[in-house]
Amino acid sequence: MMHALPHDRIYDEAPLYDLAFSYRDIPAEVDFIEAAYAEATGSARPRRMVELASGPGRHAQEFARRGVSAHAVDLAPAMVAFGQQSAQTAGVHVQYHCGDMRDIRLQPPADLVVCMLCSAGYLVEEDDLARHLRTVRDLLRPGGLYLAELAHPGDIPADADGGRTQNEWTMDGPDGVLDVSWAEAPDAESPGERTVIAQARLTWTPRDGAPRVVEANSAQRVYEEREWRHQVAACDGLSFVNSWGAFDPHVGVNAPEAWRMIVAVRRS
Ligand SMILES: C[S@@+](CC[C@H](N)C(=O)[O-])C[C@H]1O[C@@H](n2cnc3c(N)ncnc32)[C@H](O)[C@@H]1O
Repeated sequence: MMHALPHDRIYDEAPLYDLAFSYRDIPAEVDFIEAAYAEATGSARPRRMVELASGPGRHAQEFARRGVSAHAVDLAPAMVAFGQQSAQTAGVHVQYHCGDMRDIRLQPPADLVVCMLCSAGYLVEEDDLARHLRTVRDLLRPGGLYLAELAHPGDIPADADGGRTQNEWTMDGPDGVLDVSWAEAPDAESPGERTVIAQARLTWTPRDGAPRVVEANSAQRVYEEREWRHQVAACDGLSFVNSWGAFDPHVGVNAPEAWRMIVAVRRS
């Protein structure tokens, strides 16, 4: 059964989501974003940034830690509440907003907008990407940069190429163990050629209790680079700058070791 918010039951469990994806090296990812920003804009560091579909907003928090004025936007109220709480605990100031990456408006304009961890894969309806790009353009100052981390185009179906990324993993938390599974739903019919029904499952086993399973299915699109280039070209005021296959400036999208598609787009 599909729900109004994508993977709603998963994103309702914000602390579990945060633990599930805490294997990432967020400071290193932010170093990469800052280098891409400096190269594309000629400015050292953004002064103001917005993270879209931010979840807990861990990238926004890292930017805030570096002195950047940071905003985080997510559709799921539980994510926004958890993000606010975790920023407070970490002692960093991030402004959180409950909003949609297809139509959020914020002022003043930002130097940098980011959308991390394949969140743009939730842009599945026909005009979603165009709406999203217009939204990003209107969030940015002239000359500002947008960077999106997307699933690699070869990840369709999710495990077809022998696994650029892992579909199942386990995280050890202070209070228990979390088993994560994120893969194409076995019995679901694909809604479109590049859109799959992704089944997300979190199995939480507290140190002193029985396992609890949280599961949800949702449509996710695995974009090709040419779709982004085409849609960016069609959006007045934006131009495609660059793409990479990892958080490494030397890895292109078509390199054998590529596991993501990271795209950079500039506002003219
Ligand atoms: C895979 S999580 C990624 C979160 C975060 N970017 C990160 O790196 O951890 C996807 C997030 O996108 C959010 N989301 C999905 N559709 C959205 C939309 N249309 N607008 C804003 N947020 C959205 C979900 O609520 C969820 O928090």
